[in-house]
Formats: sequence, C-alpha cells, structure tokens
Amino acid sequence: MIDFHTHILPNLDDGARSIEEAHNLLKEAKMAGFDQIVYTPHYIEDYYETSVKEREIWLDTFSKKFNDLKDVKTYLGSEIYMTKNIMNLLENAQASTINNTSYILFELPMEEEPLELYDNIYKLRKNKVVPILAHPERYPYIQKEPEILYELINKGVYIQSDYGSIIGENGKRAKLLINKMLENNLVHFLGTNVHREKSIYKYIPEILEILKEKIGEEKLNELTTKNPDLALHNKKINIREPIEIKLTFKEKAQMFFSK
Ligand SMILES: [Fe+2]
Repeated sequence: MIDFHTHILPNLDDGARSIEEAHNLLKEAKMAGFDQIVYTPHYIEDYYETSVKEREIWLDTFSKKFNDLKDVKTYLGSEIYMTKNIMNLLENAQASTINNTSYILFELPMEEEPLELYDNIYKLRKNKVVPILAHPERYPYIQKEPEILYELINKGVYIQSDYGSIIGENGKRAKLLINKMLENNLVHFLGTNVHREKSIYKYIPEILEILKEKIGEEKLNELTTKNPDLALHNKKINIREPIEIKLTFKEKAQMFFSK
C-alpha cells in the first residue's frame, strides 16, 4: 500500500519534529502495511516555504539514514495551500508536485469557502497540472454542500480522503460525508495525513476491515495502491463514474447541527 499524504519528513512543517520522530513514524507506517510513502509537507505561501531544492536535499540526507527501512520507498511531494499564485509556485520550483509528475496535492482553507477556486483549477488544468484535493470531507462548506465534489471531479479534480475520517477522527460530519463519498465513487486516493507518533497508523488494520466490507477489495485496492501508483508514475487514472451526492433532509440537518 502507498500512503499518499504524510507529514513525516521532519522539521519542515507541523509534522514530525525530529529525525527520531520521523524514523518512528516510518516504522509505524511499515507495520501498518505501507511499503511506499509520499512525503507531502505543507507549502503555505508566506508561512511554510521550503523550496523544492532544499526539500530534495533534506529527503536525500534523511533517506540514507535508516538501514532498517531500506524496503520502504519514499517520494517527495507537497500539500499546497491553494492560492492564485499556484502556477508560479510550481514554475519557480517552490512547491513540489507529486514525485515530479503532473499531479499535485492541494488543500483549501478549513473554515472559509475559498474564493476563485474554479479559476485556480482552470489555470492548473490549462497548464496540464492535475490537481488532487486533500480531505474534502473535513471542510464545513463542503459538508453543507457536497454537490461541489461532483462538480470538482467533472472539472478534472481528483479526491484524496483521510483514513481517520472513516472512524470519526475528524468528527461526525466528516464520517457521514466520507461514507457518502465512498458510495458515490467520489474518492480516488486515501492517505493518513499523519503528523504524530502513535496516532493514525495503529487504526489502519481496523479501518481497512471497515473499508473492505463497505466497498470491496477491488475498489479498496484502487484507493490504497493502484491509483497512487499511477499518479506516482505520471499515468492517467481512469476513474469510476462519479455520482452526485444528494443528502436527505435528515442528513442535511445532521451536517448543519452535529459536530
Ligand atoms: Fe496534510
């Protein structure tokens, strides 16, 4: 399995705070069944701004350190906070694409609905960049209006969800939404989004069981291994036909009132 979203590479963002912690996270990832890890440290304009070059040097130094983890393959990426300058960040080698491919992982503001989202996506697609939206099930404005997901996918956006959302780690609304998303073919990648030791990796076996029951082994393999592998090698991903989420009146009420 490939962990497509991690904050393991140390001292670059709010993820691992030391080489030791990063090493422990890699060991936990391996125990949980991941043999490939994509490092996706935050890239937030004016906040977390380690350039591609610096990150590559850091990755190189870090990867050579651990003989016990030689069988875990790692790749460089970043989780880019969406901005109207996103094309400049990529062209100037500030933010990294996923393993130097055309795929990027991006995030949105947590609370406020982003302005110019569709313009920015259009810009990326026009430049042959393939955007993957990180954990949309967690954004309140998407929880209230999940129809957005269908629209985004139709505009060429892929979706990555967090494993933790499946067991309610990101609240009841995110749990309800990710279940709907899985039923409607609106998830293409899964990632742990791990930041700390002894957190999400210990729940992975339990989450995989829930997922196997829910979507079956073939679909689960697409989200955990097949699609991430295609993206890492810059190949096209043929997605399953997405279905627009229509919440019932009761579900809408849950999205507005539960935590
Ligand atoms: Fe993240």
